[in-house]
Amino acid sequence: MSWERVKGLCNLLVSLLQTNSMSYFHPPYASWGWPEYQAALIACVQFRVHSGPDISELERQLSQLLGGSQVFAVNSGRTALRIGLEVMGKLRPQCKEVIVPSYICPAVVNAVKSAGLKPVPAEIGTDLNLQLNSARQLIGSNTLGIIVAHMYGCPADIVEFEKLTREAGIFLVDDAAQAVGEFANGQMLGTFGDFGILSFAQSKCMVTGESGAGGALVCQNQEMLMTLINQLQALKPAQSRGRAFAAFVWNYLFTSHTRLATYYWQRICRPSHREIKQEGIANLDAKIALCQLKSLKRRREERIRILDSYAKYLQSVGYAICMPQYELGRYLARAMVLLPHGVDLDRCRRDLQLKSIETRGGYPVFSDENFVSSSAKEVAGRLLELPASSTMSNMDVALVCDRLMEVLQGNNAFMAPRL
Ligand SMILES: Cc1ncc(COP(=O)(O)O)c(C=O)c1O
Repeated sequence: MSWERVKGLCNLLVSLLQTNSMSYFHPPYASWGWPEYQAALIACVQFRVHSGPDISELERQLSQLLGGSQVFAVNSGRTALRIGLEVMGKLRPQCKEVIVPSYICPAVVNAVKSAGLKPVPAEIGTDLNLQLNSARQLIGSNTLGIIVAHMYGCPADIVEFEKLTREAGIFLVDDAAQAVGEFANGQMLGTFGDFGILSFAQSKCMVTGESGAGGALVCQNQEMLMTLINQLQALKPAQSRGRAFAAFVWNYLFTSHTRLATYYWQRICRPSHREIKQEGIANLDAKIALCQLKSLKRRREERIRILDSYAKYLQSVGYAICMPQYELGRYLARAMVLLPHGVDLDRCRRDLQLKSIETRGGYPVFSDENFVSSSAKEVAGRLLELPASSTMSNMDVALVCDRLMEVLQGNNAFMAPRL
């Protein structure tokens, strides 16, 4: 049998395993094909799971993608964030506060705290990103910097934040964990401000595995560079990656086929909260990341097709369900919809699950003793992530929307007609 035939058969097997069987839909965890599995196999056969040449090749290619910025690959976005913040803290030891969006992945808030700093929540806008005016009002003599994240891949007003932080003489962190390969004003996200971060964890634009499988720090600030290099060089390559790879494939990629088994496996064998160590990226993950970089453009186009299809369908339904970050042709890492007021989100998710549709809710709102964001609170309880795997056709999208409507009607939700 020729090599091309073997590859064809493997591709068929992979797509069969990843096809949503029996109309079971779930949020996208990763879009992998034969190249990713082949890369993992080669890394194992060559005994190059932990260290190897793919790490520096990944840094080189990421730097090229990001217009020549200094890129350091590590094991996660939070490792990159914590190390960058620690270095910032050393440069201005008298400043301890970091302004963060009140609607944000909890890993960001935890990274700020682990760096010995105080996260200060600020208001978000209708696009779920940090609001410029709210951040401006919070800047004081104790402010070290601002973390601006591009939530679910939707670009924040990063150009204006760069002006603001320059004028105020504070640091800017461009958190592009969910927006690898996206632009603002013709410049790649992750390259604004003093340093940026990327993440290659599940459900991101580039996925090498579960959290802890990859990320990167992108440095723009020459003052930070030497200290950063010293700290990053001291990191050991991530351990136990072969096992993590197998668990990821089983738990996430084959979830359509393994849901029950995975459920019991997670309940019995896995700790509910896993600490992620600060480590470098493993060669196995870097090799997979290189494959994901190659297919980034194609996967981006597939996602845009599905988002456009959701937007069209939801608009045609004529009820007040909106996609708060949607714009025609815009990439988003997740298909988030904002449900009508008064919907019981948990019940809605349970009912959808009974109809073979897995969904996810939004992040918890981050607040402190001085500030609770009304805008974040308002949306967080109504945000629902719909399935958007690249294997979904437009008919599948319509089916998911129909089931969502059935559930909302059964939920007695007040479905205000769109004006
Ligand atoms: C905006 C944002 N920043 C940082 C992180 C942390 O990335 P990682 O999971 O790779 O540590 C995440 C993770 O979801 C994120 O969404």
